[in-house]
Formats: sequence, structure tokens, C-alpha cells
Amino acid sequence: MSQYTRRNFLKGGAAVAGATLLPAARAQGARVKVGLMLPYTGTYAQLGVAIENGFRLALAEHGGKFGGREIEFYKVDDESDPGKAPENANKLVQRDKVDVLVGTVHSGVEMGIIKVVRESGTLHIIPNAGADAATGGMCAPNIFRTSFSNWQPPYPLGKILMDRGLKSAVFITWKYGAGEESLGGFRDGYSKAGGKIVKELFLPFPNVEFQALLTEIAAIKPDAVVCFFAGGGAAKFIRDYAAAGLKGKIPLFGAGFLTDGILDAVGDAAQGIETTLHYGDGIETKRNKDFRLAYAKTFLLQPDVYAVQGYDAGLLLAAGLAAVKGDINNKAGMIKAMEAARIDSPRGPWTMSKAHNPIQDIYLRRVVGKENKVIGVAHKALADPARGCKMV
Ligand code: BEZ
Repeated sequence: MSQYTRRNFLKGGAAVAGATLLPAARAQGARVKVGLMLPYTGTYAQLGVAIENGFRLALAEHGGKFGGREIEFYKVDDESDPGKAPENANKLVQRDKVDVLVGTVHSGVEMGIIKVVRESGTLHIIPNAGADAATGGMCAPNIFRTSFSNWQPPYPLGKILMDRGLKSAVFITWKYGAGEESLGGFRDGYSKAGGKIVKELFLPFPNVEFQALLTEIAAIKPDAVVCFFAGGGAAKFIRDYAAAGLKGKIPLFGAGFLTDGILDAVGDAAQGIETTLHYGDGIETKRNKDFRLAYAKTFLLQPDVYAVQGYDAGLLLAAGLAAVKGDINNKAGMIKAMEAARIDSPRGPWTMSKAHNPIQDIYLRRVVGKENKVIGVAHKALADPARGCKMV
């Protein structure tokens, strides 16, 4: 795939020898086909729903059209199952012939999507999955991300811990791409600041039998525990951490997914947990307040980071289609505009890196009541290192 260059993409060729699987050119004026490949069942189901809601809110705020074109949705539940990912992506790309594929949440599933869209050349917007390779070694002109790389959110946490004298940490996570890369980001920041990870603990995704590992943590007695969990599994981890008697004894930190979208379900056990993330409910800007109000009114739910990322995926597509006046066949024009877009996000304005990943502020947040309260900026304008990306 290393021969996959901007030039052959823009010429309309696919990377695979001889294959030209680009969707057939769509008639001007026809509806733009958007495929949503998201988890609608399983531990990440709520995340998928929030992303779709956010995307639809952005569309509604544009009067139901991007670049003057109506949108037709095609949906696939990816079940957060990497084994089914290429088949599911091909349902949208080959069968439904979508113009744009928006998805997904799970990094392992994302790797399957990337394989498909690198071959087909389909425009692809990632509204969550942090797989480092998506904007690293597997980056491509048609792949954009509106969320984060797994490396980004936990990277600034290391210095924060060391500033508080927390010199040893246990890292606990699911054993799959997002957990391992989140650990990598934390390790980079923590070791740079002089900290030591004394134990790395893993369990298979989406297993939530945490008891034995919590007993091990109690025996190790590190200065801090750092983790990557999200969705329903994160809620269970927080409850089990408190039930094991660790809350108040060993401070718990994480990439902010730990406490996003789950505070209603967790209650007191989450109080005081600090995390780093590119969003916080309590960002005190008019932009964020307006977004939160509109989302709550429309869906009768509080938005979270996933809703913001879905919303920003809509804003990015809007920017691309506006620049080409709705001509989805003008891919070169769309890509140029999406690369140059400055997204006026509820998280704060952000721009695209050369590898097509957000350059964004990472906030330090603390759970207070039902809110991830922003208590500081952990890192200004953090860019992913984009290791291995040939576009950089
Ligand atoms: C991931 O698999 O990339 C992921 C899933 C949920 C939250 C954050 C990242």
C-alpha cells in the first residue's frame, strides 16, 4: 500500500494493482449518499448513537443540506466486531455505493474500514476510533479524522501526575489497539516527565471481570492508577474500583473516555476522577453552551465527546461540499477544502494536521456532580506525531 499517493488518488486510481473501485460518478443534484458504520449494539452502542445524533444535528443546523445537497443515509451496525469489519464496510462501499463513509468507534473495526477505503478511494471521515495508524502509517488523502489519535488524550497526563509527585503508576486497559495505544501515549508523556509504569494490566475486550486485577493493584500500591476504558465497560470499572475499596486510597486517572457519557449510570463512584480529553461538558464558551442546548432540546439527552465528534464530522463534510458547491465528484476540491478547514467546534476551534488528524487543545477535567468540569488546559494545540504517515 506504500505506493498509495496523493497523485494516484486524485487521478481516481485505487492503490491495488489494476483495481479502480471508485464509486461511480453521481449526478449533480442527486442526494449525497452518506454511510454510517457505527456500533448500535454492545458496550459501545451509546457512543454510536451519540455520533449519529451529532452528525444529524450539524445537518439540521445547515437546513438539511451540505453544499446545497440533501443527504441520504445508509446504516450498518458494526457491533464493534473487527472480524466483520471489511464485510460491513463493503456493504456500504460496494453494495450501497456511498459517497462518504462515516465511522467508526472501535479501533480494530476501523483498521478493517481503512483497508476497504484505501482500495476503493471512498471519502472517509472517522468520528471516533483513535487507531494511531489511521493518521499514521495507513494515512491516505481520502481518510480524515474529527476525533483524536489514541496517543493524544493520555499523552499530557504523565506530566500532570509527576507535577503532583505521583511517580509510579499501574496502567490497566482492554487488550486491543485503543488500550495499547492509549498506554503508549501515556508512557511517552510519563517517562519524559520522569515517571515509571510499574505494571501493565490487560483484559480482553469487552470483558468486565475486573476483580482479580483490582486485587493485584491493591497489592502493588502504586502512587496512581491510569486506564483506558469507555462506554458500558468504563461505568462498570469505576463502580468496581470504588467497591474494591481503592477509591480515596489510590487516585484513578484516565483518558477522558472513562467518564464520558456514563456519569448518570455511575453516580458517586465517579466523583473526583480526573481525566484528560479534547472536550469537557463545562467548556465555558457560547459555542459550547449553544451546542449543548440544541442537542439536549433535539434528542432529550446530554451531549458528550462522541456527540461532538459526530457533529464535527458533519461540519467537516459541510466545509468540503460547500467548497465544491455540492459537486461530490470533485474529490480533489473537497479534499483541499477539508484539509484547510478550521472547524468551529464546541470543543474549541481546531485545524487538520497534514496527516488529517485534529490539532487540538487537551483539557484536564474533574468529575463534579454529573459533569466533566474543565479545570485546566493540559496541553495546548497538541498534534499527533503521525508516525509513519507518508503525507507528512
Ligand atoms: C477506540 O477503539 O479507538 C475507542 C473506543 C472508544 C473510545 C475511544 C476510543
